Amino acid sequence: MSTGRREQPPSSPLLQSEPDPYALAHPQEMYRLVRGAGAVVDLEGTVLVAGDEQVREVLRHPEVFSSGIDAAHIGQIRPLIPLQIDPPDHKNYRKILDPLFAPKRVATLEDHTRALVGELIAAVVDDHSCNFNKSVAEPLPTTVFLELLGLPVSRREEFIALKDGIIRPPGTDIDKRKKFVDETGQKIYAVLEEVVTAREAEPKDDFISGFLTAEVDGHTLTHDEVVDIGYLFFLAGLDTVTASLDCFVAYLARHDEHRRALVDDPGVIPDAVEELLRWETPVAGVVRITTTDTELGGCPIAAHTPVAVMLGSANTDEAAWPDAETVDFQRPDNKHLAFGGGAHRCLGSHLARMELRVALEEWHAAVPDYAIRDGIELNYSQGLRQIENLELVW
Ligand code: HEM
Repeated sequence: MSTGRREQPPSSPLLQSEPDPYALAHPQEMYRLVRGAGAVVDLEGTVLVAGDEQVREVLRHPEVFSSGIDAAHIGQIRPLIPLQIDPPDHKNYRKILDPLFAPKRVATLEDHTRALVGELIAAVVDDHSCNFNKSVAEPLPTTVFLELLGLPVSRREEFIALKDGIIRPPGTDIDKRKKFVDETGQKIYAVLEEVVTAREAEPKDDFISGFLTAEVDGHTLTHDEVVDIGYLFFLAGLDTVTASLDCFVAYLARHDEHRRALVDDPGVIPDAVEELLRWETPVAGVVRITTTDTELGGCPIAAHTPVAVMLGSANTDEAAWPDAETVDFQRPDNKHLAFGGGAHRCLGSHLARMELRVALEEWHAAVPDYAIRDGIELNYSQGLRQIENLELVW
């Protein structure tokens, strides 16, 4: 399989032009095609890793498959923390951050999250229709997250537009998209500089103030480090749960039996969340760059090669998963890779799981039967799979 040599230097797959909408809506078919060509596929410039075993191997070996700043350009001027810091330094940051996102800490947010989602549902339930992305999937996690971090919720729309400017830059011209991403990155830095400086002068009860005073093994975070954590959080916290809710509700709207299973027994919801994370893999892939000449699944890879790690393909690889293409809420031992794996495994997974569970519980209690509005062809975005036109009727 070959797409010819790239004319551009390696950059984030987020900057690549839009592929076919059908393929975005049904990525599992594309994943199968790639695996048909090999568990590891050399595209003359970028290597695709599609097999479950090989994806796990990449994630376990950051010394060979680095997440450093060269792996992805997303408008940043310094490495994003902790995502673009390789071990061993990486663990110094996780020691500070992990306790903030631990299950016990997340549990304290559940009542507030439930109240928020209740308000969002109450605003549309009597309309018998809504755009689920705009009415629930976007406002819920972004409000929870901005409150937690200490960014003003009143500027939510502005922040969402900035995050979209990095993750979904407009147009198809690679150079113009890169310029747009860089300009947007500068605006995100400006917001963070403003907030971090304000918290240095006057701390509040929020994560940014907490980062500024946290100390582990004698290590405290500098002003720039707090900004660099904030930049990553801006992207990770404002998009992923929205994408997951969109993908889940779109699936459930089209699969009556699966939806009925949740409505009849809400106790199924935690397992449904895991299985839908596996099947939909809303963060479809992550990127790495090789530090040395290496070999993976029989494929030689030169040093400094960008590697696209296809989490969605690993999660639907028939060599690793029995009945990989069946969505089974009773699937035993569901060790999917939707939150990645290894040192960089998602910091926000407990928060994300709580938000997804609570949103599905409340939504299905209020709106047990719903469908996608006739005539709508769902428009999934690339990379992080949001659905802007998720129009529902009930
Ligand atoms: C369902 C929702 C989510 C999904 C599917 C998801 C997915 C992922 C994935 C795949 C990675 C690994 C990246 C890599 O290896 O290169 C990751 C890392 C990360 N995620 Fe999430 N994420 C979600 C929610 C969140 C939330 C809500 C936050 C906010 C706190 C968050 C914060 C992070 C951070 C900080 C990292 C970097 C961890 C590190 O490098 O040590 N994520 N996430």
